[in-house]
Amino acid sequence: MAKEMRAANYSEFGGPEKVKVSSMEVPELKEGEVLIRVKAAGVNPVDAVIREGYYKDMMPHSLPVIPGWDVSGVVEERGHAARRFEVGDEVYAYARRPEVKWGTFAEYIVIPDSYLARKPKNISHDEAAGIPLAGLTAYQSLYGAGNLQEGQRVLIIGASGGVGSFGIQLAKIKGAEVVGVASDKNHAYMRELGADHTIDYKNQHIGQAAKEIYPDGVDLIFDCTSGESLQQGLMALKPSGKLVSILNQGEGIDPGIDFQWVFVEPNVRQLDHLRELAEAGKLKVQVSQTYPLTEAAEALKQIHTLHTTGKIVVVP
Ligand SMILES: NC(=O)c1ccc[n+]([C@@H]2O[C@H](COP(=O)([O-])OP(=O)(O)OC[C@H]3O[C@@H](n4cnc5c(N)ncnc54)[C@H](OP(=O)(O)O)[C@@H]3O)[C@@H](O)[C@H]2O)c1
Repeated sequence: MAKEMRAANYSEFGGPEKVKVSSMEVPELKEGEVLIRVKAAGVNPVDAVIREGYYKDMMPHSLPVIPGWDVSGVVEERGHAARRFEVGDEVYAYARRPEVKWGTFAEYIVIPDSYLARKPKNISHDEAAGIPLAGLTAYQSLYGAGNLQEGQRVLIIGASGGVGSFGIQLAKIKGAEVVGVASDKNHAYMRELGADHTIDYKNQHIGQAAKEIYPDGVDLIFDCTSGESLQQGLMALKPSGKLVSILNQGEGIDPGIDFQWVFVEPNVRQLDHLRELAEAGKLKVQVSQTYPLTEAAEALKQIHTLHTTGKIVVVP
């Protein structure tokens, strides 16, 4: 008999009012897939952007859509040949599939086991659910595209949010010097994560302030906001420096700048590395708020402000 689950979902694109919580059928388990009982789902700005229909012509969608791409949970059932994990194992995943349809704001998700990594043992499901998308984004931007090296200086614009919080910690793990940019209320938080210096984008010119700290400039700018903040920050980039953005795809960027745009990819090898860092106590997750599934629309409203500190999660 088909299994039912409670899930947040929307049948039309639009604002948070389109999101309802209702009963849906759990999809049939196919070859290579596992059924995960969701313990917590991380919330990311992209979940709200997708709901608004922004990606509808760029990625295949199938309505109704269950939002959410981050999950921490427990393996409940395994399909044919899905043997990487045992029933009962605690796992986490960046669950972005080629089609936008089955998300993690639900009691269950069916997903190929190739997306799953073992959850860090020493942290809660709420914390683990905050890692995959944002942690992988920072990892792929700093260690991949940015090729950050020990002793280098990195300016992280938007450093107190989901991605930036992991950015500060991963840069410090590499032995880099970090300047974090966010509003004043988040400066103590960024320093706790390891930022050596902080800049308040509301009251300081980012580029000038960074040049005061490092007159020769920074080796890498990791841009998590784009717009005016990025333009200001560019003033502090060394001539030989690199710019990595997760928002700007090149618009208004001087072609002479060594620039790369990153769009985060699922990667279990990197999720395993993030787990090791979390278990070694080197990577922390600050969950600033937990929402029950019935308040999924509220969680999406909050994440859409682009002023969340650390991570927020939805718990079914
Ligand atoms: N390309 C990709 O693969 C990818 C992956 C993940 C995220 N993203 C995008 O990257 C952005 C950041 O994601 P997130 O999850 O880290 O978001 P978030 O958790 O909302 O964090 C936003 C951060 O930006 C800061 N901020 C807001 N306005 C700013 C401004 N004008 N100048 C400088 N800093 C500002 C916030 O600090 P205050 O709260 O102090 O203002 C906060 O530190 C989002 O737009 C998201 O959609 C892209």
